[in-house]
Amino acid sequence: MSKDRVYIFDTTLRDGEQVPGCQLNTIEKIEVAKTLEALGVDVIEAGFPISSPGDFNSVVEISKAVSEPIICGLTRAVKKDIEVAAEALKFAKRSRIHTGIGTSYYHIYHKLNSTPEKIIARGIDAVKYAKTFVEDVEFYAEDAGRTDNKFLAQVVEEMIKAGATVINIPDTTGYTLPEEYGKKIKYLMEHVPSIDKAILSTHCHNDLGMATANTMSGVINGARQVEVTINGIGERAGNTALEEVVMIMKSRKHLNLINNINPKKIYSTSRLISTLMRMPVQPNKAIVGRNAFAHSSGIHQDGVLKKRENYEIINPKTVGIKESTFVLTARSGRAALKHRLKQLGYLPEKEAIDIIYDKFIIVADAKKEVNDDDLKALVGASERVVKRTLHLEKLQVLCGKGSVPVATVTIKWEGSEHTETVEGNGPIDASFSAVKKILNKKVKLEEFLIQAIHRGSNDLGKVHVQIIHKGQVYYGFSASTDIITASVEAFIDAMSQLV
Ligand code: KIV
Ligand code: ZN
Repeated sequence: MSKDRVYIFDTTLRDGEQVPGCQLNTIEKIEVAKTLEALGVDVIEAGFPISSPGDFNSVVEISKAVSEPIICGLTRAVKKDIEVAAEALKFAKRSRIHTGIGTSYYHIYHKLNSTPEKIIARGIDAVKYAKTFVEDVEFYAEDAGRTDNKFLAQVVEEMIKAGATVINIPDTTGYTLPEEYGKKIKYLMEHVPSIDKAILSTHCHNDLGMATANTMSGVINGARQVEVTINGIGERAGNTALEEVVMIMKSRKHLNLINNINPKKIYSTSRLISTLMRMPVQPNKAIVGRNAFAHSSGIHQDGVLKKRENYEIINPKTVGIKESTFVLTARSGRAALKHRLKQLGYLPEKEAIDIIYDKFIIVADAKKEVNDDDLKALVGASERVVKRTLHLEKLQVLCGKGSVPVATVTIKWEGSEHTETVEGNGPIDASFSAVKKILNKKVKLEEFLIQAIHRGSNDLGKVHVQIIHKGQVYYGFSASTDIITASVEAFIDAMSQLV
């Protein structure tokens, strides 16, 4: 066992599965277990066999399906629990029984109605009994986070003497501070005479948002196994997230800690767990959240384009995410817009970029986030603007129930501005008539089509028009979140081919 090797004990299928609504059936659990095996975890806590026939059966089937990791079953310090766990684990290539009992003042006196001496005796009996079935026995001192260190050291020594190979120090209630938890592990490393005969394990809950910090503090102070779940799911506020601990070890090389996880499989594993457990991952979740590698502000986007490391400490490819994303919003700059256009296969000229950017900012203000479909429409519309001889300078429309629709249109044509105000039977009719009056052209509107790209009322509208002039057909196109403006621009786009 290398000194700096940290063993990854995954409890997604036990502590993670305790989350209300996240229960999986046996087939799903097997899929998760195989995925965890491919990810490279050292131990899979497959369930709590005595808790239900379903859990028992899942531990049996996972034991048959998975061969690399140790398969572990949870028990209380109760003989029957241990017998049932041993039975469930009988097909496992390598099995472990995880037994234990509460050791804090609260648990001893207010949950178990017992005494410290009796708790130690029950723990010893449980470990010794589990040893009659399997070689590998882990003992948990439940609520160790709030257990007096001197008493905890005594418990740990007795359990190692009874045969425990791993001692779990759970911060069951997520109460400790990283410094306290680290000191607890250090205390045990220094005050338990037989400590070199077992591995100390962390098991931290996230009630105060400190699970990962506590786990790392434990490891830095000597723990060599971490109990974690994918996406940090688990009782109440959850457990320590596997992906966070693994990526800390990988990113902070000076810690000199290694593990067996293949980080490239982290993201796909996270997606699988989220889907099967119907548990969405919060967008800002470290490593696997939707925004973990998404840059939104112009300054950051520009910085990442100059050098990714300016704003990213992890290459997204390392955890199996294809690339960083730039969320195009009103705060994005030209650099990010150009970058995305390039990724979409467009290489607009400088003049077109300026027009696209102006339109983009208007859409971004209206829509908050501009997606690829919006961009494609903007590129189409802007490229036509560059070629146009006519430009819509101003449009003012008055319409609504009980009023006569009237439009005032100003067009820039050959360096000068021309304005007309015309009434119509609707805002589009009035605007189109004003354009025709300015250009003094008679045309027939053959087709006029408005399409929303998505569904929201803030959506970008694409407008196609077809006009006929002297028997010849001309097409026009534009896009805007303001469909009247888009319509008039599309009409001008077609009309500009006549002048
Ligand atoms: O949080 C905890 O204390 C536990 C134990 C059962 C290991 O999950
Ligand atoms: Zn727990």
